[in-house]
Amino acid sequence: MKKIYFGSNLKMYKNTSDTQEYITKLVELTKKISREKMELFILPSYTSLFSASNLNTQNFIRLGAQNVSWADEGQLTGEISVPMLKELQIDLVMLGHSERRHIFGEKDQDLNNKIKNALKHKLTVLLCVGETLEEKKYNLTREVLTKQLKIDLYEISSDHIQQLIIAYEPVWSIGVNGIPATPEYAEESHKMIRKILKEIFGEKGNIIPILYGGSVNRKNARRLVLKPSIDGLFVGRAAWDAENFSALIEESLDILESKHAKLSSSN
Ligand code: PGA
Repeated sequence: MKKIYFGSNLKMYKNTSDTQEYITKLVELTKKISREKMELFILPSYTSLFSASNLNTQNFIRLGAQNVSWADEGQLTGEISVPMLKELQIDLVMLGHSERRHIFGEKDQDLNNKIKNALKHKLTVLLCVGETLEEKKYNLTREVLTKQLKIDLYEISSDHIQQLIIAYEPVWSIGVNGIPATPEYAEESHKMIRKILKEIFGEKGNIIPILYGGSVNRKNARRLVLKPSIDGLFVGRAAWDAENFSALIEESLDILESKHAKLSSSN
């Protein structure tokens, strides 16, 4: 069975003590699950990263930041650099979340600079891509994903391929007003992304995990993970309660294991 990823972006929720409590509980609830078959990561707020990292639970839950600067230092008020993250033992950063793109106007060219710098410093980059509702209406999903991936990953050597994870998050599916993508729609988009990654990196593009995100919950998680092109789930609201998230993870793993067992017995 291939390794499956589960992660959550805590956005601007949970202060330092909430985050510590949440991570401690999530470790407790999930520690019996072998990390060989799944990787679990959490992206807390910047102010919570230091204390979260001091919990020393990174063997169970990888910690990442929600954004990072393209520069290592400079006159860049309000920014946080990659070396500052590394000082906290953080080796993962999310870039290009839809809220960064659409509320803060982050451009693909900026993302390309940020990704290049993070990769140079050996961080893993979780790159988020996805089309808006309007772009979907005009049937532009393929074009949008191509543009985002080709600019965001411009001039990135395939030597860095092991440091990349993609999250496909259609903008219309994210948050309280989001409509979850059907597993079939998500599967089609994941296939498109895989094709574009292969155009960029050749066959090596096959090894980049592609996660689905956007209104994932305990009702739809199992149907999503069963899709062959979905390598994991990137969960917002449904993950912010540790018990709900661990149940979602267990249920997803159970269904994958029974599918795997059925396949091996029929072979
Ligand atoms: P949601 O958030 O699961 O609450 O829709 C997803 C995200 O923003 O990554």
